[in-house]
Amino acid sequence: ADGLNTRAVAAGKEYFGSATDNGELTDTAYVTGLSNTADFGQITPGNAMKWDTIEPSRGTFSYTKGDAIVALAQKNGQKVRCHTLVWYSQLPSWVKTGGFDNATLISILKNHITEEVTHFKGQCLHWDVANEALNEDGTYRSNVFYDTIGPAYLPIAFATAALADPDAKLYYNDYNIESAGAKSTAAQNIVKLVQSYGAKIDGVGMQAHFIVGSTPSQAAQTTNINAFVALGVEVAITELDIRTTTPATAAAVTQQAKDYAATVGACKAVAKCVGFTIWDYTDKYSWIPSVFSGQGAALPWDADLVKKAEVYDAILNAWGSA
Ligand code: G3I
Repeated sequence: ADGLNTRAVAAGKEYFGSATDNGELTDTAYVTGLSNTADFGQITPGNAMKWDTIEPSRGTFSYTKGDAIVALAQKNGQKVRCHTLVWYSQLPSWVKTGGFDNATLISILKNHITEEVTHFKGQCLHWDVANEALNEDGTYRSNVFYDTIGPAYLPIAFATAALADPDAKLYYNDYNIESAGAKSTAAQNIVKLVQSYGAKIDGVGMQAHFIVGSTPSQAAQTTNINAFVALGVEVAITELDIRTTTPATAAAVTQQAKDYAATVGACKAVAKCVGFTIWDYTDKYSWIPSVFSGQGAALPWDADLVKKAEVYDAILNAWGSA
């Protein structure tokens, strides 16, 4: 059947997918849409694999939520992008404010990664090993790992994940790295840093949380993706959504359709842009309104699970024929 995933695959990509979350899985109409593999060949758990869910207290691991999403994907025959091992947010306070010294925090980091990656071994096409390690100006973001261990926490994390699941592709994932600039350059430097330690890094995830009418041009995104590919890594669009003031005007939806098509076109243009994920598929479950008040309408399906034909068709057409 024709759909977003079918078209992406026809264009040479591994998948078109969506994020999801455990609380949404009791919504049967929603799950039916998510499980339609013509549209979605891949799932990312939006929260279920983060540190606070997986290891809420030291040495106690809880995989129920992550397992539920992996099981759904397997039942549907969908790939899973596993998200995320090392992030300053949704990090339990026992890690954040534990006051651990360098050696102890390294061992906590390695243990967390080894346990979690081993648990999901063979089930993750990608792992977002590290998420959002950078400030907007390209400096490292202060977090307990950077502040205690220094930038070496990144190569340590990648090397540890590679040992636990040699077949998963290991990604660095961040936002505002989708066009050239200080932050994109810094993300390229993270790739080089990890490589310089002899650790494996396979890809970079461009989150792509965009705003209608001010998303980078297709050409700017293509050039930027190529800059990463030149370092020997692949790229995936990992969390695309394009928000606007709500309720969205007809003009905003028309612009949004063009903006979605620009990112699809950029990924299509680069063979090593391997996959494409939107950060949930319906406005019903988007994270945007709770964080950006008065904004939303960011996804191709509205809050009633109705497809926005203009946006959906723009994505289809940007991938090209089936
Ligand atoms: O689970 C609790 C629930 O028990 C409680 O009653 C409720 C009350 O607020 O909160 C629930 O937790 C929320 C959680 O999502 C699960 O729904 C948190 O408050 C909320 O902050 C959390 O938001 C998530 C956000 O990451 C946190 O930073 C979003 O769902 C998730 O979509 C979002 O995803 C991130 C990516 O991981 C990284 N890139 C940016 C992206 C968007 O922020």
